[in-house]
Amino acid sequence: MCGIVGYIGNNEKKEILINGLKELEYRGYDSAGIAILSEGELKTFKAVGKICNLENKCMDFTSRGFGLGIGHTRWATHGKPTEANAHPQIAEFSNVVHNGIIENYQEIKKDLQQKGHQFLSQTDTEVIVRLFEEYLKNTDDVWVAFEHMVASLRGAYAILLISIKAPDKIFYAKNGSPLIVGKGKDGVYFASSDTPLVGCVDRVVYLEDGACGYMDKDRFDTLTHIKPLAHNKIYAQKEGFRYFMEKEIYEQHKVLLETMMGRVSQEGIFLESLPSDFFDGIDMITICACGTSYHAGMSGKYLLERLARLKTNVAIASEFRYADCVMGKSELFIAISQSGETADTLEALKLAKKKGLKTLAICNVDNSSIVRESDGAILTRAGIEKGVASTKAFATQVMVLWILSVYLSHHRGYADTKTIKSQVASMLKATKATEVNATLHERLKRLSKRYLHGHGFFFIGRDIFYPLALEGALKLKEISYLHAEGYASGEMKHGPIALADSLLFTVALLPKHLLYEKIKSNVEELGARDATICAICSEDFESADDMVYINPADDYMEEFFSMMVVLQLLALEIAIKMGNDVDMPRNLAKSVTVE
Ligand code: G6P
Repeated sequence: MCGIVGYIGNNEKKEILINGLKELEYRGYDSAGIAILSEGELKTFKAVGKICNLENKCMDFTSRGFGLGIGHTRWATHGKPTEANAHPQIAEFSNVVHNGIIENYQEIKKDLQQKGHQFLSQTDTEVIVRLFEEYLKNTDDVWVAFEHMVASLRGAYAILLISIKAPDKIFYAKNGSPLIVGKGKDGVYFASSDTPLVGCVDRVVYLEDGACGYMDKDRFDTLTHIKPLAHNKIYAQKEGFRYFMEKEIYEQHKVLLETMMGRVSQEGIFLESLPSDFFDGIDMITICACGTSYHAGMSGKYLLERLARLKTNVAIASEFRYADCVMGKSELFIAISQSGETADTLEALKLAKKKGLKTLAICNVDNSSIVRESDGAILTRAGIEKGVASTKAFATQVMVLWILSVYLSHHRGYADTKTIKSQVASMLKATKATEVNATLHERLKRLSKRYLHGHGFFFIGRDIFYPLALEGALKLKEISYLHAEGYASGEMKHGPIALADSLLFTVALLPKHLLYEKIKSNVEELGARDATICAICSEDFESADDMVYINPADDYMEEFFSMMVVLQLLALEIAIKMGNDVDMPRNLAKSVTVE
């Protein structure tokens, strides 16, 4: 999704901005741009597509001496991914970059057009810079014009604006979208997430909603809530794998062990990041999330209800926000997010907080907006996830929810020492089950060739394998662009079975340790209507057209994690065969910071 960088200082601004944008690349974008203001001159470069196109455009440009610059990667929302719509958006003598959505842009635009402004793009962002210049007609004070402009905006935004009228300042405003300012020995930096700042600054301020101001080379120290930022850049490398997604699938067993470290032992479950009375008085849970994190949340519901006997609701964050849900004071609100910046999840969290609920984040990024906003957090410790299609983040989210369920089961008096020990043993086996075995991967490579046509996929499962089926379908559609749906297998006969024929591929999750006979009958019903069945099971299933064998397991969670890997690899191999860019699938963003 859109990314922002900014810099004030003496170093080569072009290089700093472009390097910063490269750090944000994995989040997904379709155009990029930079603007540099130095020695009284404001230069803007923009390009559609990858950052290398932008680099080509400004190849011959250098900026010496003191100056400042802003940069942006855009993921189109208002208007197509064209050069005119790319940021920085331009007015007569100012440039702006913006993440988020200006909800009242049409009103502002109409008003400005009546005043004679000619718009060059279809974006909502252009109104920011034009409105700023309109206000500047009535004042010599650039800051006053900026402040008035920001006061007129409605919506979510992180904004950096530069103007020839104030050649030593970057103006900023933040509401709803993340924005960080940091200082290092080479100058002042801005970014929409930590990654471009690591290695460049040692101190940062995570700007709060409502923050609006300007920065020059000296003002950083006047800010409050300055925090240190670790210096070590942790680069994610493909390490010989074809794609980051493939590497991330392979490292799941390792990161799952990290997730358990210090929390899971034969002596019990410890959640040190939370005070011991954190869950006192809680008698219900609402989980809110988007995308893959929502599927993890759905899986968590089965665990929390079964193990901890806690009533659990799971809601899609974008739905929860406007549904005027009934919330009880003794309810715990859990926000699940890989990035910690998903706008819908963040806003749902704020809403729950406003209603007085205790809030907990299950998140992969420390210091992210969702972590900072929550009363407590359990970090998933998946490490940097680069593939837009989430894999290891999902695995660790489910593991955290499992750990939490066992913890709460004990806390609420359901799990004795013996039960905890057996759950811990099961977690270790489940982790082991995510180690990718070469024969399995080879089998899926070969099998994938047979699933490139047809008119769609059903992924079916029951109980906790139902959200896994949803996740399997999501993985496939995200990176292969094939139509795939997940269903609770018992629901097939209530409608979806009408689609069954030999060109409908059904991927059936058949765990031996959970409702095996039930799901078997559901699959047979589909087979009887000629659907092509690919069964994932530890033993033969005679009605299947294709089998993917998982290792025999001792319980259903071990089977869950084994099957998760199969579904991820199947999606990966099909997408590779289709010739797609697996790590940056079309139309998708890693972190969706707009509503
Ligand atoms: C985007 C990504 C998904 C992700 C979802 C939620 O749509 O493409 O892969 O699951 O956002 O993201 P989060 O960071 O909140 O888990």
